[in-house]
Amino acid sequence: MAADEPLVLGIETSCDETGVGIVHGTTLLADAVASSVDTHARFGGVVPEIASRAHLEAMVPTIERALKTAGVSPKDLDGIAVTAGPGLAGALLVGVSAAKAYAYALGKPLYGVNHLASHICVDQLEHGKLPEPTMALLVSGGHSSLLLSTDITSDVRPMGATIDDAAGEAFDKIARVLDLGFPGGPVIDRLAKEGDPAAIAFPRGLSGAKDPAYDFSFSGLKTAVARWIEAKRAAGEEVPVRDVAASFQEAVVDVLTRKAVRACKDEGVDHLMIGGGVAANSRLRALAEERCERAGIRLRVPRPGLCTDNGAMVAALGSEMVARGRAASDLELSADSSLPVTDPHVPGHSHDHDHVHEISKENLYS
Ligand code: KG4
Ligand code: ZN
Repeated sequence: MAADEPLVLGIETSCDETGVGIVHGTTLLADAVASSVDTHARFGGVVPEIASRAHLEAMVPTIERALKTAGVSPKDLDGIAVTAGPGLAGALLVGVSAAKAYAYALGKPLYGVNHLASHICVDQLEHGKLPEPTMALLVSGGHSSLLLSTDITSDVRPMGATIDDAAGEAFDKIARVLDLGFPGGPVIDRLAKEGDPAAIAFPRGLSGAKDPAYDFSFSGLKTAVARWIEAKRAAGEEVPVRDVAASFQEAVVDVLTRKAVRACKDEGVDHLMIGGGVAANSRLRALAEERCERAGIRLRVPRPGLCTDNGAMVAALGSEMVARGRAASDLELSADSSLPVTDPHVPGHSHDHDHVHEISKENLYS
């Protein structure tokens, strides 16, 4: 760890995790996370208003905890990075407001960064600098995409994405049908280990010869699994939960890994990273390992704690922004719930600040 590497604090509040990470270069110094997942569990999904409120309460204590763990004084930071989008608007706003306040009070540069690019960049904390290019399969409760990056601070190209449900969403919905609680991924993963993945032939979405090669669809699979369970129940038969879990999971990870490996081969990319909450799935990891090895592709999957939403990933990307001299954001930075994946960060405009001040005042009073 060179002394001149950037020391960056990152804030993540795009969904239900209040995350604050501190990174020095590519070394993780602190990763403080406060989750409101338990408060959403009884609703079977994340409730945006509850998430925003929880972020507000957790924000300052989580920042203080991260600084204490890292043994870092705020004055030594080289920058404050924050998730500017995509995500839940109200939730993002809490993080962006906090980051602006700290950046302004401390006189530090502010970096509004992209949540998806952060999910990719976090792997640097575990496996060192990302090879360029890298193919990334991002699978979580909110997103499922295949992205090609030649420079994580400036060039992230979408190859494909889900056309309906996200992969994690499918896990959560099937878990609900099986009365397994929320979030569904971890419990399905666990039960599937005792089931037969070949017991039921569930459909593989968008896998026909004429279908888009890199897009995903999980809605048909979800319906097929739900119908299969309903039919069993209607016939008064017991539902073989472990076999359903294993067969459903196999259908998801089969499509994810096949399309990811195909994209690597088609583009001549020999590194694949998998990130997002679903990357914690043990079968996804095993099958990806097997198929990558056969195709001569090097697989990089961060440890599960870095795959789910956290502040370390934001700090990791912020650190890379500083290292590569990318433009900081200005204090007019706003949360953008649908920030395109092609924008790894939100650089500030090089405009006259007095003028901007006048405009925002006008907006405020008009
Ligand atoms: O990245 P994440 O923490 O939050 C979002 O940005 O969505 O991902 C959460 C999602 C949930 O849908 C959860 O069910 C899923 O990741 N998940 C898993 C596993 N652990 C979490 N899915 C499959 N297998 C797992 N082991
Ligand atoms: Zn995420």
